[in-house]
Amino acid sequence: MPDQAHFYVLGAFLLGVTLTVAWENRHWRHETLNGTPNKAWGKSRKRRAHIRQKESQGLLDKAIESVESLEEEKDDIREGIEGCIGNTPLIKIKSLSDATGCEILAKAEFLNGAGNSPKDRVALSIIQMAEERGLLIPHSGDTIYEGTVGSTGISLAAICQARGYKAHICMPNDMAVEKSDLLLKLGAEVERVRPAPIVDQDQFVNLASRRAIEHTTNANKPGRGLFADQFETEANWRAHYSGTGPEIYGQTGGHLDAFVSGAGTGGTLSGVALYLKPKLPNLKVVLADPPGSGLYNRVKFGVMFNNKEKEGTRRRHQVDTIIEGIGINRVTHNFDVGRELIDDAIRVTDDQAIGMAKWLVENDGIFVGSSSAVNCVAATKLAKQLGPGHRIVTLLCDSGARHLSKFWASTEPVGGAEGDISLDAILESRS
Ligand SMILES: Cc1ncc(COP(=O)(O)O)c(C=O)c1O
Repeated sequence: MPDQAHFYVLGAFLLGVTLTVAWENRHWRHETLNGTPNKAWGKSRKRRAHIRQKESQGLLDKAIESVESLEEEKDDIREGIEGCIGNTPLIKIKSLSDATGCEILAKAEFLNGAGNSPKDRVALSIIQMAEERGLLIPHSGDTIYEGTVGSTGISLAAICQARGYKAHICMPNDMAVEKSDLLLKLGAEVERVRPAPIVDQDQFVNLASRRAIEHTTNANKPGRGLFADQFETEANWRAHYSGTGPEIYGQTGGHLDAFVSGAGTGGTLSGVALYLKPKLPNLKVVLADPPGSGLYNRVKFGVMFNNKEKEGTRRRHQVDTIIEGIGINRVTHNFDVGRELIDDAIRVTDDQAIGMAKWLVENDGIFVGSSSAVNCVAATKLAKQLGPGHRIVTLLCDSGARHLSKFWASTEPVGGAEGDISLDAILESRS
């Protein structure tokens, strides 16, 4: 056969195949849409029916598989609300990872089940340690006293209810009002006091300590008072050493280049660093520090303030900031135990945190509070310093719902992406 004839035969064959497929498709659609079977196409119908049968068998197999996997987890029953503390997911923050070329991962600590923050771990650890030492008796009137900006109090109040204790919380009166409202709903007694430096006897932590003694020495009050003392107690950093640290190591398979976190008591940063550093000596541990905190200078230059001021004696109030939960002007025991392991510090301004909080909603659907936003700013700055290809872990501490009246009240309305401020512009915000 001449070459040209070959070409014509092949063309006719392909045309035949195409027309057959098109006709079958048309018929198939017709048959499925109006439900009328066509006798002339019985053979093709059988084939279609066979395919459909195979497809539905496949779907059925998949459904059975997923039901079976659910059934395997049938025994996964948590022991009370305390059973919902820890083992939080590690989330890849996609927008920040895409923008920096680093993997920016965040522990979703707001998913802790009792008080919805990393402080659940600490509150449970404090209570368990006191119980082991016989310092608490359920339903005896025993009361836990704590000085807190809110999160630790909320976790303590929830767990106290679950275990038969009372909670009495002293907090500064400039913290977001939704935190004290929530404490009251959890049945805690709340004392909101004016913000004061630690040298003042009525500073919220000093007051809580005093109230615990007053309770124990008052013969008319049932039970005893126990000062939780989150800033100084071993139970705090140990909760992160035995929980948050190992979880991060396990979830990343030990592959991470840096851990970034703010410090309030310092328990998170110290506990995680103490666990991870011996396993990963090249890990960079970085403090994220908000305005008004002395910790940045402490890490960078070894002094809390300029050398005219002595640590812990400063009388003026902390610089005004809308960031809650992190930043402090004294070295607490919980910061001190891990201090040597902190490699660097990054300063974050209020505007940078506000911009980041809005960015996270608009780009990732993640709605968080001020300390989480500070963490994410610092993690992004660090990613830019380290360059692409690194893996950085940080924390999302609590939900934005805890910060509606203060931090989120300062934020521009969340809208679309158009005309929005760029990530670089957020990182450069000065105030
Ligand atoms: C919301 C929030 N994030 C972070 C922290 C800081 O954690 P740490 O006390 O372990 O330094 C706190 C401390 O109270 C907090 O309330």
